[in-house]
Amino acid sequence: MSSDEVNWRAYLAEFHRERAGIAEAVLSRALAGDHSPYRWLARAVSATAGTVLDLACGSGPMSRELAQPGRTVIGLDLSEYELALAAERGPGPWIRADALQLPFRDASIDVVTSSMGLVVVQPLSRVVEEVARVLRPGGVLAAIAPAIRPLGPRDVRVLTSINGRLRTKPQFPGPVELTGFAKTLAQCGMRPVEDARERYRFSIRSRADAELVMSALYLPNTRWSRVESAIQYLEDRVKKHDVVDVAIPMRRLVAIK
Ligand SMILES: C[S@@+](CC[C@H](N)C(=O)[O-])C[C@H]1O[C@@H](n2cnc3c(N)ncnc32)[C@H](O)[C@@H]1O
Repeated sequence: MSSDEVNWRAYLAEFHRERAGIAEAVLSRALAGDHSPYRWLARAVSATAGTVLDLACGSGPMSRELAQPGRTVIGLDLSEYELALAAERGPGPWIRADALQLPFRDASIDVVTSSMGLVVVQPLSRVVEEVARVLRPGGVLAAIAPAIRPLGPRDVRVLTSINGRLRTKPQFPGPVELTGFAKTLAQCGMRPVEDARERYRFSIRSRADAELVMSALYLPNTRWSRVESAIQYLEDRVKKHDVVDVAIPMRRLVAIK
């Protein structure tokens, strides 16, 4: 393995051990208008869905967003540290398992949701295959994933400055913009019914905010001194402008079996 290749399995295990709950800490404060990306994803789930599986659930924000009488929301993740936090925050059930081998019977789930999971669990084709297997006919996959647009000119300036300090971009194990997703869905007997985009913003008002958002990024092969430099850039901007918005463009994808 060259020094630039990433052992994602090991990197993710360590990242989510050290920083359990950090995705939720950032995304629950990311807003488009008055709502978080979790609320946006929850809106794609029918009120009649009785059994929902939240894939790569992390600290469990979607389970809480989706809770309603008569519904079971199962949170599944590979990280025991994320699940320990999830269990402190909500009733579960919480299951430690690999999204590539779901411990459920065929056609037993009404809806599968995933916030950020489809760009993390790889290969995507195997995840979708598993999702299609456990969904009942007519069942729905609803997911949100990071995207490269929409971005305004000011967003581009801030993100370019951050990436310049990092000398890289935040990375994910999966392809940017989920290349090949539509083809994968079709191969698994699923049909896309929505592909929408939304710009969320995380407002930075202090150095602590800057540290939080920068610590939430997957940056394998990036020295901490570079992250520090990006934090310093954000802190300097906050001193000048009081608030700095970091844009988080997101995509919501919905497919039906
Ligand atoms: C970016 S976090 C998203 C967490 C949560 N869905 C949220 O949006 O706050 C990605 C999650 O994927 C989990 N994960 C990574 N590989 C996995 C796998 N093979 N199976 C299940 N979960 C996995 C990580 O442990 C982590 O909790």
